[in-house]
This record gives sequence, C-alpha cells and structure tokens, in this order.
Amino acid sequence: MAKLKILEYPDPRLRTRAKKVEKVDDNLRQLIDDMFETMYAAPGIGLAATQVNVHQRILVADVSDDQSQPVVLINPEITVLDENNRLGMYEGCLSLPGLRGWVERPASIKITAWNEKGEKIDFSLEGFPAVVIQHECDHLDGILYVDRIEDTTKFAFED
Ligand code: NI
Repeated sequence: MAKLKILEYPDPRLRTRAKKVEKVDDNLRQLIDDMFETMYAAPGIGLAATQVNVHQRILVADVSDDQSQPVVLINPEITVLDENNRLGMYEGCLSLPGLRGWVERPASIKITAWNEKGEKIDFSLEGFPAVVIQHECDHLDGILYVDRIEDTTKFAFED
C-alpha cells in the first residue's frame, strides 16, 4: 500500500470531471487500497479519486470511529429521495485543510454503484452518511463544498 498525495485548493485539477470506470481490475483495487490508506492517515472520512489526481469515478468513505465501516463506490449515482428533507452542517474537506463551511444538502438519498468486485449495489442513506457521500460524489464532478456555501458568514477556520 502507498499513501497518495492529496491535491489542495485551489489546484485546478480538483475541477476535473472524472470519467466512468469501464472495468474493475487489480490495478483499480490497488488504487482503492491506497485511497483508504491515504484517507485513514489524513485522517478523513471520505476521499474521492479526483483528490489524488486520478480522474475516474471512484470514492471511498468510512464514517465510523474505528475504521470498521469502509465503503467503496465506483461509478456512483445519487437519487434524492426527498428534496424537502435537508440537513445542514459544517463540512470540511481534505483538499481544504483547516476550513469548515455550512452546507445544506438532501438528507435522504438512494445510491447505485459498483463495489470493488465490479458488482452492482444499491442502498439508501440518511443523515450524516448521506451528506458524506454527496460531498465525495461532488468531487467526481469537480465540485467543492465551498461552491455550495450560501451564507459566507458560515465559512471559518477550524477551532
Ligand atoms: Ni472533500
């Protein structure tokens, strides 16, 4: 395994729209292992391939306290289940170290994706995990959470 370098804002490569993964193979699984190592070392709870300068639609996440819930999503697609049910929180990002900004997003989503074996998976998420996955999916489209901050008085250094 190897730790990868995380691109930091305002690196223009963070604005790249990632391409769909055509085939899940051992090279891709190696990348996924390296992304987990990089995310856990940071430490972080989510990392998109875009952030390590690989422009393919892959993300990893783990919202647990003890690295017990690793999630890999390849070619993820999100369907919002209830537009009116929104959750706001101060988001952070490994590509914007030391900063937090208030973003509101849909609180319940359905996801379809491939797993690390290339199998199709789908599941629903609510609350904090749903926010994390939306944040990571945004990276694959070159979008950063700062683009979604509506109230700039709620953008601050971490305390
Ligand atoms: Ni991020």
